Amino acid sequence: MQIIQTVQEMQCFSESLRNEGKKIALVPTMGFLHEGHLSLMRMGKELADVLIVSIFVNPIQFGPDEDFEDYPRDFERDKKLIESVGAACIFAPEVREIYPEGFQTSVKVAHVTQNLCGISRPTHFDGVTTVVAKLFNATRPHCAIFGEKDFQQFVAIKRMCQDLNFGIEVIGAPIVREQDGLALSSRNTYLTAEERASAVSLSQALFEAKTMFDAGERDAVNLIELAHKIIRAEKVARIDYIKVCDIDTMEDVSVISRDAVMALAVHIGKARLIDNIVLKPAD
Ligand code: PAF
Repeated sequence: MQIIQTVQEMQCFSESLRNEGKKIALVPTMGFLHEGHLSLMRMGKELADVLIVSIFVNPIQFGPDEDFEDYPRDFERDKKLIESVGAACIFAPEVREIYPEGFQTSVKVAHVTQNLCGISRPTHFDGVTTVVAKLFNATRPHCAIFGEKDFQQFVAIKRMCQDLNFGIEVIGAPIVREQDGLALSSRNTYLTAEERASAVSLSQALFEAKTMFDAGERDAVNLIELAHKIIRAEKVARIDYIKVCDIDTMEDVSVISRDAVMALAVHIGKARLIDNIVLKPAD
């Protein structure tokens, strides 16, 4: 397995694979990998001939008071995990390689980034789409796989690829959960034992709302109220948002008549956790 740190070397590596007629899948990550990332990598291995995994903790998608410095990092552990899946290469550039002196370009997806996390993290998605555009140009994949836990990110990246004609298939992979329902996240490592116990309320709230939805409830306010009640029962939880949105536009919906996503963000201790569940009226 190759470890590549420069854009130029990465482009050469991908170009030679493309010349050999190989299909390339990319799984972009910020490292500190867990089973969720591994599921994306396994999907990449199935869908393509060659898997590339990038590890880059992207400073420009963190706000000034966020956890860029503290974000967990362990390259040696990540390397072993990526090797065990059978990736051909890790692309792990330094910050100055991605953002050299004089860098001043930003990729902005205007509409789908405004709601949900876009409200409390106003610069976040511009940072994500800018770095993903750069990662795409460095690794030149045929397809790229993203976890649906970051649902709004997934929608924004799909939009960017379509709008800018990247010619890359953007594939979403289902959320991977602990046995008790907590969605896997590198940020779960911030939780104390007490906070970890409370964090299960996020998925509980979503699952109970889905049960209510499956029983025929279509009024988003009632589903949101139920979820609020479940999470508010946890003293250490501070709700950022709980919303029901159209699956394509990410706009709030009041009555669910087409596919929607119930999404939430909750602060628990030092961690800001997100989770979601898709609600399909036709099912
Ligand atoms: O989901 C993530 O880990 C990051 O937002 C991504 C897509 C790797 C961009 O930095």
